[in-house]
Amino acid sequence: MNITIQNKELKDLQGMIIPVYEDKTHTCEKVEAIKAGELFKGKVGECFYFTTEEMKYMILVGLGKYEELKSEAFKTAIAKGAKKAKELKLTEYGIKFIDAAHMCPGGRVRAIVQAARLALYNFDKYKTGEDKKTYTPNVYVLDAPTEKIEKMNGKLSEINNIVDGIIEARDLVNEPANVIYPETLANRVVELGQRDGFEVEIFDENQIQEMGMKAFYEVAKGSARAPRFIVMRHMNAPETEEIFGLVGKGLTFDTGGYSLKPSGSMDTMKSDMAGAAAVIGTMSALAKNKVKANVIAVIAACENAISGISYKPGDIIGSMAGKTIEVLNTDAEGRLTLVDAVTYIIEKEKVSKVVDIATLTGAALVALGTTTTAVVSNNDEFYNDLIAKAERTGEKFWRLPDFDDYKKLIKSDIADLKNIGGRNAGTITAGLFIGEFVQGKPWLHLDIAGTSWAETALNEYSVKGATGVPVSTLYALIEQRKPCKH
Ligand code: BES
Ligand code: MN
Ligand code: ZN
Repeated sequence: MNITIQNKELKDLQGMIIPVYEDKTHTCEKVEAIKAGELFKGKVGECFYFTTEEMKYMILVGLGKYEELKSEAFKTAIAKGAKKAKELKLTEYGIKFIDAAHMCPGGRVRAIVQAARLALYNFDKYKTGEDKKTYTPNVYVLDAPTEKIEKMNGKLSEINNIVDGIIEARDLVNEPANVIYPETLANRVVELGQRDGFEVEIFDENQIQEMGMKAFYEVAKGSARAPRFIVMRHMNAPETEEIFGLVGKGLTFDTGGYSLKPSGSMDTMKSDMAGAAAVIGTMSALAKNKVKANVIAVIAACENAISGISYKPGDIIGSMAGKTIEVLNTDAEGRLTLVDAVTYIIEKEKVSKVVDIATLTGAALVALGTTTTAVVSNNDEFYNDLIAKAERTGEKFWRLPDFDDYKKLIKSDIADLKNIGGRNAGTITAGLFIGEFVQGKPWLHLDIAGTSWAETALNEYSVKGATGVPVSTLYALIEQRKPCKH
């Protein structure tokens, strides 16, 4: 979809999407007449279309009450309209830019672009023949206030870059494990770094061992697909020494290892690199938008597989930080790869704070379901900032407790730590295991096991498969844009 903010005459279009308030009189009499009937009142979620004498398609989408309109309802309306336009095979259409009580013009552009583009996202590159539906309409945002068009167009390209980042993350996760494995993931990052302007450094199997990443290597060594350690740098704030650190879990496939997963739990495990995909999408958007910040992101990319040399339950392994770990379950592999990545980013890259993003525990799904990301943190201020930014992006996060009682559950009798904490509080103990390696730095752990993959569409602008969570919130957290008056 190509979106531009540009006034066009209806005669040059095939139709338009018209957002309509339930409680505001619309300037077009025909729309008012429709609202007087039973089929369309302007309520949130409603969508109705008619054709004019010139055979133009007018798609009405409901916004609900004027004073109550929030971003979520606005996105729902636009997504519905964009899907209807696709169904009607419109390739040149407009979206009327409407007035809103509590959303600034930039916020409305953001909602339009995100909702329309993400609603039409599909991953059909492997379909052949008739099932494949290439559809790239030209969409015009109509009737924006003339004095604001230039500013809005600037905003538009910024938002398009963020949505591109979300789509990149979705694509990477949707790609199967025979296509995206550590080496090809690293290649893709190199490509994106060149295209979007961030620095990339890749370490191979030997360098991973030389750096002392013993925990990461133990997980990686059982697979015929060699691991890669991926480093991305966007250093665009030379006036400060602050460096924001991102760590993404990058299991390109998780069989569980010798603690083998049952088939029903294994079939979506190509998505066990959704944390990595999110940091890649975020870096790409930050670089394209030349965001004034220093950000370093790392991914310990590997596969958790079975072979004669795979690690086994009961093994005691080392780590880059020097702590020893008793492996009681080879399926609790993510935390082993993550702790070395965290040690690396703190000790070698000298980041000031760390966010790790990981599809870490099935327990996160049990606790919070599929729409809320679980958070473990050692820092209230950092967490509050996350929540403030999430309110803007619409993604949901909720913090779990980090009391010392939980920390006891991952102490081993014969090593420093053990990699599972028992049946209870699985998301907390997994998070706190990583917390043992953050050396007191402000830290957020985001467990996206429930939120990064959707078994069915969750709203009008989501589809089955990868969600791209939490690219937009990570971007907002790093960008630190001042909120507008609304
Ligand atoms: N990758 C899984 C977690 C996961 C589960 C992600 C479901 C997405 C959907 C992780 O490596 C894992 O296997 N975790 C175990 C931990 C357990 C052995 C302590 C789990 O959640 O069962
Ligand atoms: Mn696992
Ligand atoms: Zn895993």
